[in-house]
Order: sequence, then C-alpha cells, then structure tokens
Amino acid sequence: MSVSALYPGTFDPVTNGHHDLIRRASSLFDRVVVAVAASPGKKPMFSLMERVTLVREVTADLPNIEVTGYSGLTVNVAREHDLKVIVRGLRAVSDFEFEFQLSNMNRHLNDHVETVFLTPNERYSYISSSLVREIASLGGDVSGFVHPRVESELLARCGRD
Ligand code: COA
Repeated sequence: MSVSALYPGTFDPVTNGHHDLIRRASSLFDRVVVAVAASPGKKPMFSLMERVTLVREVTADLPNIEVTGYSGLTVNVAREHDLKVIVRGLRAVSDFEFEFQLSNMNRHLNDHVETVFLTPNERYSYISSSLVREIASLGGDVSGFVHPRVESELLARCGRD
C-alpha cells in the first residue's frame, strides 16, 4: 500500500531543521507534499511564492517531494491531494501543547486525517525561522542554520548583500 503525507508550515524561511524533517518524512512515505501556508497573521518576511521557491530549491536533493502554496485550511489541502497523513515536527516538549491542539482540531475538521509527529536531529532542536530572521537582521551568522540559497536571500532582504 502506498502512503503519502502532507507536511504543512509557514517556512519563513525554510531552515536546516525543516530540511531534516522533510528528509526523514521522504524516507518513510512514498510521496511527501510540503505545503507552504500563506499565514498572513504571521506577517511573513518572504512572500508565499518566494517561500515556495526556496523550499523547492532546498529540497531539490530529495526525490519524492512536491511543494505547493496554500491559503485555506490544511485539512482541505490534504483532501485535495488525497493525503490521509499530516506530518508535524516536535523539537521540544514546549512544541507539544500547540501541536496537540492543532492535531485534535484538524481531526475535528476532517476525521480521515491522522497527524504523525517526527523529531528532528537534536542539533536542530533550538532553530526557528523567527530566530534565524532576527539573527540575520542583526548582523549575525546564519550559515549553520539555513541552506546557502536561503542565506543569500535573507542577507539581501536585510540589506547585507
Ligand atoms: N526545524 C526548524 N524550525 C521548525 C521546525 C523544524 N523542524 N519545526 C517547526 N519549526 C519552527 C518554525 O520555523 C516556526 O518558527 P517561527 O514561529 O519562529 O517562525 C515555528 O517552529 C512554528 O512553525 P510551524 O511548525 O511550521 O508552524 P506554523 O505556525 O508556521 O504553521 C500551520 C502552522 C501553517 C500548520 C497552521 O497554522 C495551519 O495549519 N494553518 C493553515 C490554516 C488552518 O488550517 N488553520 C486551522 C488549524 S487547526
């Protein structure tokens, strides 16, 4: 039986931690659709199209990945792509409460979708997109946290190129 999964997130921008999780998902599932949420409430630094393009470039080394952007409900994207599994990452215990709420709400919205949690390598447990954006904007080195393509886009956005 072929099992495919959806990995949703804002990816503003995609980090090495996200890549680690996508790589793990790609080895477990036949196909992984990485869904980049518009998330206007988070006032993203990068446009939806820019974030989708960066995720595509960063995951070009992985064979069974598709990348799409969306602005509606995550469960609707899962339904449109005929996916019954949502993958989410748990970096630390502090992620759990929000993820527990999200997965139960998604189940309420669509009872045919199950959420599966993966943990990234511990060296990525303290990375987040907002910390990476903040470090880049304050002149710090983000090369250990993001792909070189993402780093150059971040530096350009922060007027550091
Ligand atoms: N490595 C590095 N960072 C990670 C990570 C990993 N493996 N996993 C999560 N993060 C970070 C992200 O960079 C992000 O950092 P930031 O908040 O500092 O920018 C943070 O953890 C949370 O990101 P993420 O887990 O991607 O959540 P999100 O808030 O960006 O996305 C959605 C949540 C998009 C899945 C959720 O809001 C959603 O489903 N929205 C669509 C609308 C909807 O369906 N709403 C109803 C939901 S029940």
